[in-house]
This record gives sequence, C-alpha cells and structure tokens, in this order.
Amino acid sequence: MQFFMYQDKIIVNYEGRPAYSIIIDKDFSNLKEELSRLKLENRRYMIITDSNVASLYLKECLDALSIDSNELSSFIFDSGEGSKNLDTVYKVYSKLIEEKFDRNDIIIALGGGVTGDLAGFVASTYLRGIDFIQVPTTLLAMSDSSIGGKTGVDFMAYKNMIGAFHQPKLVYMNLSTLKSLPEREFNSGMSEILKHGLIKDYDYYKWLCNNLDGIRNQEYEILKEMIIRSCHIKKNIVEDDPKEKGDRALLNFGHTIGHAIEKLMDFKLLHGECVSIGMVAASYISYKRGNIARDEFDNIIFWSKAFGLPVTIKDLSAKDIYRVTRLDKKMQSDKIKFVYLKSIGTAITDTSVTEDEMMEAIKYILER
Ligand SMILES: NC(=O)c1ccc[n+]([C@@H]2O[C@H](COP(=O)([O-])OP(=O)(O)OC[C@H]3O[C@@H](n4cnc5c(N)ncnc54)[C@H](O)[C@@H]3O)[C@@H](O)[C@H]2O)c1
Ligand SMILES: [Zn+2]
Repeated sequence: MQFFMYQDKIIVNYEGRPAYSIIIDKDFSNLKEELSRLKLENRRYMIITDSNVASLYLKECLDALSIDSNELSSFIFDSGEGSKNLDTVYKVYSKLIEEKFDRNDIIIALGGGVTGDLAGFVASTYLRGIDFIQVPTTLLAMSDSSIGGKTGVDFMAYKNMIGAFHQPKLVYMNLSTLKSLPEREFNSGMSEILKHGLIKDYDYYKWLCNNLDGIRNQEYEILKEMIIRSCHIKKNIVEDDPKEKGDRALLNFGHTIGHAIEKLMDFKLLHGECVSIGMVAASYISYKRGNIARDEFDNIIFWSKAFGLPVTIKDLSAKDIYRVTRLDKKMQSDKIKFVYLKSIGTAITDTSVTEDEMMEAIKYILER
C-alpha cells in the first residue's frame, strides 16, 4: 500500500468540510506562512505555554512568528498535570481581559497535552469561544491530543471533568522539539501510539514493533512516518464521530482503569504510563473473553515493556482502583462503558463487563 510517508500535511474535516490542517515539519520556519494562509490578519496572539517549554521554545517560536510585539503576548504556567485546572484557567482569563483580547484574537497552545487541553479550553470559553492553534511539542500531543478538538481541565480529583469540544484552526508540529523531550515523556507518548495500532490497525502495530530501535533512537524519517500514521488514525476516528457518540470512545482503550490509576497515584505517574497499565488490564479481559490468544496477550505486555512503559502498578489496592474506575466519566446508566479488543487491531465498547471480570483484570496488573 502506498503510504503517506512523505506527505507533511493532513487535512482534518469537521462535519463533512475541511476544517484544519496538520502540518508536520522539522522546524518552526513555516509557522508564520501557515498562519497567514488562514487569513487571520490584524489579530493579536496569546501564546500559552508551560515553564519548561517556555525556556526551550518560546523565543524560537516568537522569532519564527516575527509579529510586532504589540500584537503578541504570552502566558506561562508551571509545567505538569497539576496545573491543568480551573485556577490556571482563571489566571489566563484575567490576563486576556487585562490585555483586552477580543473575539477576533487568537490563542496559540505551545507545549504538550496539558497545554493543549488547557489553552483549548480557555479558547473554547473566553468570549464564548475564540480561535486557537495547536503547536504540540510532546510525542503524545503530536500523535494524539492536539487533534480532534477535545479540550478541558481536571476538577478536584476527576480527570478532564470540565471541558468542551473546540476545533483548532491549525496544528503545527515541529518534530525537532522532540529532541529535548525527556525519555520518560517520550515513552509515555508511545503508549497512545501503541493504542492506535491495537484498536485500529494491526499492520501499524506490527510496524511499530518492527521499528522499535529506530523509534527509540528517534530516527527522523521513522518518527515522521509514525506520527503521520497515528495522526491519520486519530483523524479518521474524530471525523467519523467528532462528539464521541460512538466509535470515538475506542480511543479510551486503557483509559478507564488508566485514569483511576492516574488519580489514585496523585498524578505521580504520567498519563501514558497509566494508560499503558490500563491497556494491559483491558487486554487481559480481551484474553479472558477468548478474543485474543494468550501469546498475543503476552506479546502486548512484551512490546509495552520494550517501549519503556510500565505494565503493573504497586502500592494500590484492587478495590480502590475499581471504586475510582466507577467514578470515571465513561459510565452509561450506571454501567461502565468499557473498551477492549476484539482482536489485535480492532476494539469494541461494551457495557457487559462484570465487576468480577474487572476485579480479576485489576488484580492482574497489581505488582506481586
Ligand atoms: N485532548 C485529547 O484528546 C487528549 C488525548 C490524550 C491525552 N490528553 C491529555 O494530555 C495530557 C498529557 O500530555 P503530555 O504527556 O504531553 O503532558 P505535558 O503537557 O505535561 O508534557 C509533559 C512534560 O514535558 C514537558 N515538555 C513538553 N514539550 C517538551 C519538549 N519539547 N522538550 C522538553 N520538555 C517538554 C512539559 O513541560 C511537561 O513537563 C494529559 O492531561 C491528558 O489527559 C488529551
Ligand atoms: Zn490519553
């Protein structure tokens, strides 16, 4: 099959019409031109970014934009999931108001999934919604979170409890920013990428496993092909079901139990790490239900570990994980809408998974 290997632009449709482009590039040099294509002249820009990304890429990004400083402002928050909340949103609103940003102005989210979710949520609600642009700098954000318009923040201990659908006007990724990403964060992003293969594309899953070394050594062409293939999977899912009325829920594979672990560990584990453990639990249910063979299940564990991801969790009790899993958003009439594999490369959602099955799967992922 002819693949999109050398294509560096993907168009995402929304409600049947082309809505925004995903640009895959090796630096920021085309960012300004891509923005000008959107015909957003005479607007002001607020770059929202976190403390780590600000020190690494804010200046480079500002230079690439070369916009008059009167037209450009920035908001920097402390990096980490702990900032993805309404307190930070409040501070951004205050800054936007102080600086008299109006409905024609634009927010640029420069950073990982935390920045994209937070800045996107601000953009979706400030003055009932203003335009925003995603400039993802983590593997997770490039391959998953910057696409599809899900924005939001955590509330109390609940993940992504407050949010909105708001599509970006552009997603511009500079793959060179991955060079500075800590290895643990890179691995965390691999979890969502493995998820794409497991739920939608067996060949892609095999390709990922066959290219382990090239991926872990961050060989540019391999990374680019991988990100493009993941973006296509995400694009197809969100185009078919933008508001998660059906198949978009498949992207939650590993997330129901994963989110519970993320909360119970008080965000000490990274999102992708929790998703990896959650995917093992969901795969265990797939195995127990006879959908995948034991060796296929063992293989999923083998490759998750090979990509540097955790597959078990210690210091938590099965009861607690189950209890918090039931508090997650993915409930339908008091039943958990659970995603598991029909085979490797195909996932399904189902509300028939029983408490006993869940408990057995959770016990499996507890470190013995
Ligand atoms: N909206 C969606 O569809 C969606 C999908 C998946 C995940 N998410 C969300 O994404 C979040 C996780 O995203 P994440 O893993 O990108 O986390 P993140 O945004 O916290 O970034 C991870 C860390 O890497 C740092 N960083 C970012 N880019 C860097 C770079 N180029 N070099 C060095 N350091 C860099 C950040 O400062 C941070 O410390 C979670 O909140 C999750 O819920 C959203
Ligand atoms: Zn996720």
